[in-house]
Amino acid sequence: MDKFIITGGNKLFGDVTISGAKNAAVAIIPAAILADGVCRIENIPNINDVSIIARILQQMGANVKMVNKSTLEIDPRHIVSPVASYELVHQMRASYYLLGALLGRFSRAVVAMPGGCDFGVRPIDQHLKGFAALGADYSLEGGVVNVHADKLTGNNVYLDVVSVGATVNIMLAAVKATGLTVIENAAKEPHIVDLANFLNSMGADVRGAGTDVIKIRGVTHLNGTCYSIIPDQIEAGTYMVAAAAAGGDVTVRNVIPKHLESITAKLEEMGVVVEEYDEAVRIVRDGPLSKCNIKTMPHPGFPTDMQPQFAVLLSIANGTSIVNESVWDYRYRYVEELRRLGAQISVDGKIAVIEGVRELVGAPVKATDLRAGAAMVIGGLAARGATQIEDIEHIERGYENIVEKFQALGADIKRISVLEQVSAKAAL
Ligand code: EPZ
Repeated sequence: MDKFIITGGNKLFGDVTISGAKNAAVAIIPAAILADGVCRIENIPNINDVSIIARILQQMGANVKMVNKSTLEIDPRHIVSPVASYELVHQMRASYYLLGALLGRFSRAVVAMPGGCDFGVRPIDQHLKGFAALGADYSLEGGVVNVHADKLTGNNVYLDVVSVGATVNIMLAAVKATGLTVIENAAKEPHIVDLANFLNSMGADVRGAGTDVIKIRGVTHLNGTCYSIIPDQIEAGTYMVAAAAAGGDVTVRNVIPKHLESITAKLEEMGVVVEEYDEAVRIVRDGPLSKCNIKTMPHPGFPTDMQPQFAVLLSIANGTSIVNESVWDYRYRYVEELRRLGAQISVDGKIAVIEGVRELVGAPVKATDLRAGAAMVIGGLAARGATQIEDIEHIERGYENIVEKFQALGADIKRISVLEQVSAKAAL
């Protein structure tokens, strides 16, 4: 019920430090289920999706301890049942990684169908196809996926679509299977590589992560480990776009610039200056923005998770830009909200046509999902006047301390509880 209130128009200046990657953390935390000892995971982002997945493991019997604000220790040895309940699982998409992890450990998994952002149909057929190739049977009844194998045996799996989730789940199920599993047409996202590095640090034998062929030779035992998660590429991209949209000079720290190449290339095409350092990028924008076209693709293509944020930037660029969303069936629910700020966008299926306008003007809007919510924040920062964003729980699922980080860059943004708003009105 809480809201963000933003008064736009301030340019952004200074440094912002990026947290650990959400989409790596939500794969690595369930992967710890496969260990025969304690896993210490560092650079964990302090976000709701991480708390939920950690709570699910705890509820299943794991010892989960927050050692400090970004380090989590998981001792999974007390998990005795391969069942994950609906109550927490339905709150997030990545809870489907419990399927692969529990299957890998117990040869059985019973997990409610996951929730998460609504981009139209989100099938898991490729995950199930992978489990079946390893020798598992599955059924889907009453909203629960039930997977079972007498014995998991390595095999070749060709993914019909490049799927991050299916690649992760098959890796998790195969890592302790007998023999060799080869995933072809695998996803190549940085968090796939991070998961492979985590598993290898436990004693797994995973090769080729980051290419489209991943080979996993099963091992019988995985030990506990200590591992630090990579920085969040999408959080970094979001601050880069925010600096470009509001204008100013911002250094985004704790990043791997190579992971940001597709974002950097598009910003440069639009006339934004991007300087790359070893672990930082500096964004400078004081001139006009030029139109550009974007097509979302699996990594290393332009990430779908940056599409809504870029739509805001294109809304204030000179000229007409075309966005082609080729990953998800429908990822334009936010467009109606962006129009409230004065953006001129028309959508036809997977294509959005954006006519740049001179300025956006603040208005009340909603965060329709996580990245859509980030786009609303950027819109509010760039707009003239006040923007009020509702449904911010979507944003807080994936961005650590977003209000504080933007305030430190000079933005006029605050989080208010609805109670505060009611008492402020009463005082008038
Ligand atoms: C991951 O979702 C990310 N989530 C998403 O980020 C991201 O948008 C997406 O990858 C694409 O990059 C996490 O990592 C937790 P997919 P995932 O399986 O794994 C189709 C964010 O904002 N498909 O790669 O669920 C599917 O319909 C989130 O941080 C099948 O057809 O995505 C889609 O069109 C939101 N069958 C395409 O593949 C399947 O079995 C890519 O989906 C699986 C997927």
